[in-house]
Amino acid sequence: MKTQVAMIGGRPSGLLLGQLLLKPGIDTVVLERKTKDRVLGRIRAGVLERGLVALMEQAGCATRLHAEGILHDGAMISYGDTMFRVDFTEHTGHPVIVYGQTEVTRDLFDAHEQAGGATVFNVEDVAIHGADTDAPHVCYTVDGVPQRLQCDFIAGCDGFHGVSRQAIPLNVRREYEKVYPFGWLGILSQTPPVHHELIYANSPRGFALCSMRNDSLSRYYIQCSLSDKPGYWTDAAFWQELKRRIPADMAERLITGPSIEKSIAPLRSFVTEPMRWQRLFLCGDAAHIVPPTGAKGLNTAASDVHYLYNALRDYYENGSPAGIDGYSEQALARVWKAERFSWWFSSLMHRYPDQSPFDLKMQIAELEFLRTNAAAQRAMAENYVGLPY
Ligand code: APR
Ligand code: PHB
Repeated sequence: MKTQVAMIGGRPSGLLLGQLLLKPGIDTVVLERKTKDRVLGRIRAGVLERGLVALMEQAGCATRLHAEGILHDGAMISYGDTMFRVDFTEHTGHPVIVYGQTEVTRDLFDAHEQAGGATVFNVEDVAIHGADTDAPHVCYTVDGVPQRLQCDFIAGCDGFHGVSRQAIPLNVRREYEKVYPFGWLGILSQTPPVHHELIYANSPRGFALCSMRNDSLSRYYIQCSLSDKPGYWTDAAFWQELKRRIPADMAERLITGPSIEKSIAPLRSFVTEPMRWQRLFLCGDAAHIVPPTGAKGLNTAASDVHYLYNALRDYYENGSPAGIDGYSEQALARVWKAERFSWWFSSLMHRYPDQSPFDLKMQIAELEFLRTNAAAQRAMAENYVGLPY
């Protein structure tokens, strides 16, 4: 097989890039290791920046998002029983949209299928060859039959555990990582959200987050130990712990019910540089991971897609390699800012096992400063709604 851009990984990054490239007629093939059902199975943060929404519009996939997504003009932050609001729209002129990431992926899938985009599921043994030559190709097997896909470029959209990043030689690649000493235990429940906006809570018992998918579907998280397993937590124990971490009036109002999903995610900050090696480009989680505080994962993948889409388009339509040559630097400049925000917000909201009394005072002083200072709130709001591309 032959294509112009071979995409490894068919979740948000790969699908969005694939769908965008279809419009100007750039030929792509998406290679995905899993089945479609398994790709849609994972539940991740559901807050969309306007940049991602604009890309979904450009890709012709935003109808349902606009119909079902909920505009959020602000969010609540609590510490102990003190709660305050950061107004995104007042400070930046922009809200965010709450819409599940699984739904974003589903919309992209449907659009890609309808437009006749080529996706090969169940691929195994994907290997990148000749990314540093004029004849790059990807080898893989389907049902045990070896296949070879020739291409001009390879987009590595295969997440943190994919093969693309490993294809960049070790003497070229630099990796930066911070692993946090806790995880998030999350549940999804068919109950109305406790509040119409998100609540990020710093409590002496650890972080908690009240989020939602719609009026009757809630998503809640509590900071947990890395040795915890979802099975250790009954629903009753989860609700009890959540109530102890959010302001008393919210705890009283909280409607509980059976969980329909329960999982634990570790928290990690990670960046690999460069994001381009010759004819191979890394995009999304293949190149960087953020802790989920602030919901920057999907949104940062989207900014990579934006830069790469424009670079490839410029190359094919105008013969200009400038975008391709500048991709890594341009994408990384924004990635590091999203990393900084996610690290800062995580550091502000969680309780650390080795936190000294001084560290704790600093955290509370910073929360007090944020509560009372318009400039601090504006800085937070600008980052939360998404820095410009
Ligand atoms: N061959 C083919 N596909 C692969 C391979 C491989 N060797 N390795 C991984 N994949 C696929 C995975 O099955 C998965 O569907 O690549 C996809 C990578 O998807 P994500 O990990 O979701 O990465 P990305 O699309 O960059 O995600 C961007 O969405 O899910 C969130 O946390 C994610 O917030 C981030 C954003
Ligand atoms: C979610 O709804 O799952 C969510 C929202 C905001 C975050 C993280 C996760 O910061």
